[in-house]
Amino acid sequence: MTALHSPDHWAVYNAAQPGRAARELCQEVVSLAGPGAGRQAVDLGCGAGVETAALLGAGWRVHALDGEPTAPHLVRTTTGGAEGAGLSVAVVPFAELTELPPADLLYSGYALPYAAPDDFPRVWAAVRRSLRPGAWLAVNLFGVNDSFAGTIDGTFLTREEVERLLDGLDVLAFREEDEDGPSFSGPKHWHVFDVIARAPR
Ligand SMILES: C[S@@+](CC[C@H](N)C(=O)[O-])C[C@H]1O[C@@H](n2cnc3c(N)ncnc32)[C@H](O)[C@@H]1O
Repeated sequence: MTALHSPDHWAVYNAAQPGRAARELCQEVVSLAGPGAGRQAVDLGCGAGVETAALLGAGWRVHALDGEPTAPHLVRTTTGGAEGAGLSVAVVPFAELTELPPADLLYSGYALPYAAPDDFPRVWAAVRRSLRPGAWLAVNLFGVNDSFAGTIDGTFLTREEVERLLDGLDVLAFREEDEDGPSFSGPKHWHVFDVIARAPR
């Protein structure tokens, strides 16, 4: 466990992830989208690449990116160095993110809330632009009741704001969690929106 504010928090957090199962939201969208069959996915805020590996395993090509400089090494280790099999990895902090590759599936697990409010609209616009017709989107966003709100320079949204972000998409799953629970940094109040949506064809 490391404090969320410690400079090596994400390096320590991500180093502890290999070995767990892929997150349920990722498994859910992979199962809805069917075999990747060489289609392009983006794992935005990929961390150690556990979900990147799940996507590769389901036949997707994956562009994995994260702001943490230690992520590429971890992703390569987690995925067994799949660069020849459709993996690309990049270090891009949200503060510098302006464009994402065109994607048939974009997954972002527990990462977008760490974009500063000044960066989030630009990052979200890049997410929306990256979605090809019929593309799948699966993201976690944090709500205003989350106990991290006010303690970090992140983005915490109302339900209405999340709904507005999804304008024009076909929303297939929209779940809101607003309860206490454990976290890597100790017990906290989680206010999380789990979303699966699809771009129009
Ligand atoms: C809770 S972890 C989630 C990682 C991975 N998706 C997972 O589910 O294990 C948050 C991720 O966001 C990344 N992150 C945090 N702040 C960031 C920023 N400002 N720019 C880009 N990535 C950032 C961290 O490095 C970390 O990998």
